[in-house]
Amino acid sequence: MCSIIGYSGIKNAAPILVRSLEKMEYRGYDSVGIAIKNDSMINVKKDIGKVSEVKNNLNLDKMSGTIGIGHTRWATHGKVSKKNAHPHYSNSGKIAIVHNGIIENFQQLKSELKLDGFKFESDTDTEVLVNLIQKNYDETSNIKETITKTISKLQGHYTFLVIFEDGTLAAVRFHEPLIIGVEKNSYYISSDVLGFIEKTDDAIYIDNENFVIINDHNLDIFDFKGNSIKPNITKVSKEFADVYKGDYAHFTLKEISEQPKTILQAGDDARIEEITERISSARNLYITGSGTSYNAARISKFLFSNFAKIKIEPIISSELPFSPDSIEEDSTLIAISQSGESADVLDAVRIAKKSNSKILSIINHPNSSLSQESDSVINLNCGPEIGVAATKSFTSQLVILYKITNKICNKCMNLDWDKVSQCISNVLKDDSNIKKLANEIKEITDIYVLGRGIHFPIAQEAALKLKELTYIHAEAIPAGELKHGPLALMDSNVYVIIINPDDETYQNTLNSANEIKARGAKIIGISNKNNEVYDFWIKIPDINEELYPLIEIIPIQLLSYYAALEKNTDPDYPRNLAKSVTVK
Ligand code: G6P
Repeated sequence: MCSIIGYSGIKNAAPILVRSLEKMEYRGYDSVGIAIKNDSMINVKKDIGKVSEVKNNLNLDKMSGTIGIGHTRWATHGKVSKKNAHPHYSNSGKIAIVHNGIIENFQQLKSELKLDGFKFESDTDTEVLVNLIQKNYDETSNIKETITKTISKLQGHYTFLVIFEDGTLAAVRFHEPLIIGVEKNSYYISSDVLGFIEKTDDAIYIDNENFVIINDHNLDIFDFKGNSIKPNITKVSKEFADVYKGDYAHFTLKEISEQPKTILQAGDDARIEEITERISSARNLYITGSGTSYNAARISKFLFSNFAKIKIEPIISSELPFSPDSIEEDSTLIAISQSGESADVLDAVRIAKKSNSKILSIINHPNSSLSQESDSVINLNCGPEIGVAATKSFTSQLVILYKITNKICNKCMNLDWDKVSQCISNVLKDDSNIKKLANEIKEITDIYVLGRGIHFPIAQEAALKLKELTYIHAEAIPAGELKHGPLALMDSNVYVIIINPDDETYQNTLNSANEIKARGAKIIGISNKNNEVYDFWIKIPDINEELYPLIEIIPIQLLSYYAALEKNTDPDYPRNLAKSVTVK
């Protein structure tokens, strides 16, 4: 999603802003821009493209001035174009803005502003917002009053930064993230700690419905009613400073490769204990998430039912507002989110809270919006995940769900985490077959992934990884459903991945593989056991059968990554996608 960064201090702002945008580019990235206040005016430079391209083409980091704002855009209102890129000036040119989120009533506000004589160049809601700010500033000549007056008119979710020509920098937070890095004589105002962690680990996490005014090195925080709020400076946890690729070609490969270690760090025992007690005493139990996190949620249904003998209802977050299984009074909702910022997940949580439900969260970012909305939080502890496609966070989510299940069922599973870690290492080391296969599938347009039982949500996660990283149309099919439709698609142009470890699903899934093979399709078997039906066998190590889901996803993460390289796509930043989707 869009990233915003502001700087106010004694250093030259432009190189700082550009560097911060490079660090946060994973959030969303179709265009880039910065605005710098110098002695006489506010200068804006912006264009479509990646931060490095726009930086080089426009000499972004050579702009001069000690106060500025910057933005990477992920288009919501208006197509990807220079005129729609941020920052936007107000009509007077004396105010500039960057914005993350959506102003839902922008059309109505735009009509009203047009009647007042304001003109618009872009298609964005943001340009409407900056002109509303100008109108209110022209009327009040007071920045605090301007902000309170402006936000009283806005509908939607937003965070924005505004520079005024007198050098004041204001930041407003409403349901989108906003964090301030604090250094002597410098403030960094950012969507993400990655925007300033190279400079300082002292941070103020701005609460929702608060705004900030920085002028002459003074920082003031207010709530939306205008009451003063005392700043609370905390330390950013160290692992979030680790945002380098090291020797790896891409963050995605680094993050896939870290899994033997990260699965051992997931969740601490005290939190598992606390959450388990809450789950055991829950009246009705639901679990929600988006994308990969939802696939992890679906795995919990198998674990909780089979081992803990507890019913849990997974609901995809974006569907929860429309779900017939509405959250009953006094229920418990488990929310899973790597970022803790997905708007759909936050929305689902707010709906559940209206029915007096308790919220238990599984999150990687301990200070995220979701953690603030939760009654209990358990951390993935897997360090920053920069690659847009979730990899290590998925296996860490699974580990936590396994640990909770095992606690509830009194250790009925034999969870040997060192063995799991070793098995993942073995798959990672033995990747030559996977590289060959990546080369083989680079030209294909469709691929199917089959699994049964607990392996079906893994097939869904596999299809999601293939789509995100390779842009190949990938579809998960519950193996038994093949004969009820998808078999019509099978011919010699088709590749089918069969997730088939040696457990109770093995023989039935093998039968499905044979039915597909008879129609000429190529079969890729992911299994600890080879079979002649497989054209390609990707071997996974033997382990207790309940632990196979944690292992079988690893070769597909690698296959998706290597196929992306074969196709010359950027695995870290797939087109049109963003890591943290903070709009609905
Ligand atoms: C986006 C990302 C996905 C991610 C999903 C949920 O769609 O591209 O990779 O799985 O958001 O993110 P969350 O941070 O809530 O787990």
